[in-house]
Amino acid sequence: MCGIVGFVGNDRAIDFLIGGLEKLEYRGYDSAGIAVLNNNKFTVNKTTKRVADLKTKETEKLIGNLGIGHTRWATHGKPDLLNAHPHLSETQKFAVVHNGIIENYQSLKQELVAEGYTFKSETDTEVIAHLLEKYYKNDIKEAVKKTVDRLKGSYALGILCSDLPDCLIAVKNFSPLIIGVSENANVIASDITAIVPTTKKVIYLEDEQIAFIISHEIIITDKMGKPCKSEVSQIDWNVESAQKGGYDHFMLKEIMEQPNAIEQTIKNRIKQNEVYFEDFCIDEEKLKSFEKIQIIGCGSAYHAGVVGKYVFEEMLRIPTQVDIASEFRYSNPVINEKTLTIAISQSGETADTLAAIKEAQKRGSFVLSIVNVVGSSIAKASNGVLYTWAGPEISVATTKGYSTQLAVIYLFAVWAAKRLKTATKEELNAAVEELIKLPKLVKEALKCEKTIKETASKYKDAASVFYIGRNLDYAVSLEASLKLKEISYIHSEAYAAGELKHGTISLVQDNQLVVALCGVERLFEKMLSNIKEVKARGAVVFSCSEKANKQIEREAMINVYIPKTHNLFTASVEIIPFQLFAYYVAAAKGCDIDKPRNLAKSVTVE
Ligand code: F6R
Repeated sequence: MCGIVGFVGNDRAIDFLIGGLEKLEYRGYDSAGIAVLNNNKFTVNKTTKRVADLKTKETEKLIGNLGIGHTRWATHGKPDLLNAHPHLSETQKFAVVHNGIIENYQSLKQELVAEGYTFKSETDTEVIAHLLEKYYKNDIKEAVKKTVDRLKGSYALGILCSDLPDCLIAVKNFSPLIIGVSENANVIASDITAIVPTTKKVIYLEDEQIAFIISHEIIITDKMGKPCKSEVSQIDWNVESAQKGGYDHFMLKEIMEQPNAIEQTIKNRIKQNEVYFEDFCIDEEKLKSFEKIQIIGCGSAYHAGVVGKYVFEEMLRIPTQVDIASEFRYSNPVINEKTLTIAISQSGETADTLAAIKEAQKRGSFVLSIVNVVGSSIAKASNGVLYTWAGPEISVATTKGYSTQLAVIYLFAVWAAKRLKTATKEELNAAVEELIKLPKLVKEALKCEKTIKETASKYKDAASVFYIGRNLDYAVSLEASLKLKEISYIHSEAYAAGELKHGTISLVQDNQLVVALCGVERLFEKMLSNIKEVKARGAVVFSCSEKANKQIEREAMINVYIPKTHNLFTASVEIIPFQLFAYYVAAAKGCDIDKPRNLAKSVTVE
């Protein structure tokens, strides 16, 4: 969590720092702060409000052209001004911003306190500032090297030293950090969305690397001080795609972008009616060696994995297990070189997923990841990557990230089914045809917006909502429920419809809203029975099914219809009304939709 930025160049630093932090606010918004060097002294400005609160008259006057900034998701210490970054060293010679966790900070703190250093905050970060000062004997490289050598954990750091008015220092270890390179300035940020307005040329810093960045030169070394080669990459995201484009919230913009995002993900991967992956890491022989598929992910990415389980088992007939990454890694998983592990992550930075990947690799499993952010830690750690070309996702609640993950799951399933001969030619053709149509069908599904908006305003004060479904409908209910609770703060639960009667139905009373997902045609009758069961207990049923379904109209009070698609791709159209439902409920309640309380976009802590 947390977002960091840094600037060194010909212009004033403050403009990039504030603009960059605003872009990174999705990573945490418990506090924000900047430090700018002016005449060898740091001016530090902090707020416990939003980044915009840093735009004061005093900040406006800061003309220094070297600075760092931070937006915080609190881990060590409450979200107050003392714990807000940047943190300064004892004599204010060093200023530090940090994203990550220093696992051994307690013992380092004890050591530093015994040596006379005083701590102003409860953060783990402050030890870094003091260590830098402790080891600084007019040799910055040595001081950084010795400091980094003492740190255990994950960290992306932006460091300034008041003796060096033209030097920004960046350090990376298991937390993302990117350098933006341009003629007039060099910058650092946790994410490229902060860098794109300044430059599209970037260097992805590797773990255990240190960068000494001056306005016209960048020196990158390993943690022993040995120079490292670096490659400048060109990014193709544009500024507009990282802005709201006329919508009230990024979430709504991203919901509406889904047809296009799915199209981008699919279009270059279908050639002559066949799925094709360029330079793919798995060949036919390797594919045939897998006896099991293990899917890992967190939150919505895990929910995409649940869809994957149903799709893979149906199309590939390979036993597929899906686990929450944070559970998987401590579960002594039964996997080996005959297991294909598929890790799913929008950000590519989720610490639990990254750790689970390493666990899988330790046991000999080949890891293929499905990731949105190019060059992210998960992409780099995996044995192969299939990117979801969703473009930048800014809203904390994922929508197009999830939808494009589903698209990649389908592509992979069709690609593999052909090689494993688990589907006939006709079945494969039909699947590819439906894949090509998917963006259009999702667009059609979005037409329910008006009905959903009206329904949302009626139910905005619901105390709790149940989502029920079977098979793929159950997988979608997990995601639909998460969307509602995370942004509207309404308690909701997703339940396998057949399981409700084994206990949870005791919670259903008069006026309980129950959303019944009935997209899986072959299980429709079973769902009708479950709907009757909850109705008999007083529930108000909100159903979702394919069009023109008279039977459901007799049972449910609210009906929403989704277009017909391939029986294994239902999730892609069925999730749409419920992303919109969550959005409009939260909007009607006046919630902070793009930045829901207690959450952050990129969860880089375990
Ligand atoms: C929910 C949401 C989260 C993420 C989860 C994993 O809307 O966005 O549940 O899906 O934190 O994040 P990634 O996909 O970046 O690994």
